[in-house]
Amino acid sequence: RARTAILISGRGSNMMALVEAARAADFPAEVVCVVSNRADAKGLEFAAANGIATRVIDHKAYPSREAFEAALDQYLRSMHVEAIALAGFMRVITAQFISGWDGRILNIHPSLLPAYKGLHTHERAIADGAKVAGCSVHLVTPELDGGPVLLQAEVSVLPGDTPDTLAARVLEQEHRIYPQALAWLANRIIEDRE
Ligand code: GAR
Repeated sequence: RARTAILISGRGSNMMALVEAARAADFPAEVVCVVSNRADAKGLEFAAANGIATRVIDHKAYPSREAFEAALDQYLRSMHVEAIALAGFMRVITAQFISGWDGRILNIHPSLLPAYKGLHTHERAIADGAKVAGCSVHLVTPELDGGPVLLQAEVSVLPGDTPDTLAARVLEQEHRIYPQALAWLANRIIEDRE
């Protein structure tokens, strides 16, 4: 199984979906740690309660983005991590960090990329009168929300939707496609080993 780290900043519902999926003995990834840049991230409690190593690496405790990322990188290496899943991790990561993980970082984003990169995706989709919204899992490259898309799921935007109601409908799909995308990456990593 591919040793996987999940990076969060908050609630961690996508992290929970990945942890649940990885409970199956035949799932190709194993969640070895959950890292948060915020000590108050709700998801940390779930991870700890499920016997997963947790670590807070607070970006505010470092003098620069590079120093923060060096600490993060060092921790992930110490855990012999092979794949990284960003799951509501709200820090931009640099090209230098990404280059050390060569095609092994996934992100989930709440839009049908390349539409609505960045923040407030649902608010923007509703304001535009979009009829369809959704989510994407992509490989992380230095371009923000710009790496190759592995999987997407669509949902209808319904009359009367608010950013919150739309987000909830999209989130159900996030929880469905993220484990599938992680399984794909994990299988690729396992094949590379052989
Ligand atoms: C998810 O909807 C995720 O797609 C989004 O934040 C939420 C995190 O929820 N990510 C981004 O906006 C990345 N820019 P979660 O903590 O419950 O998984």
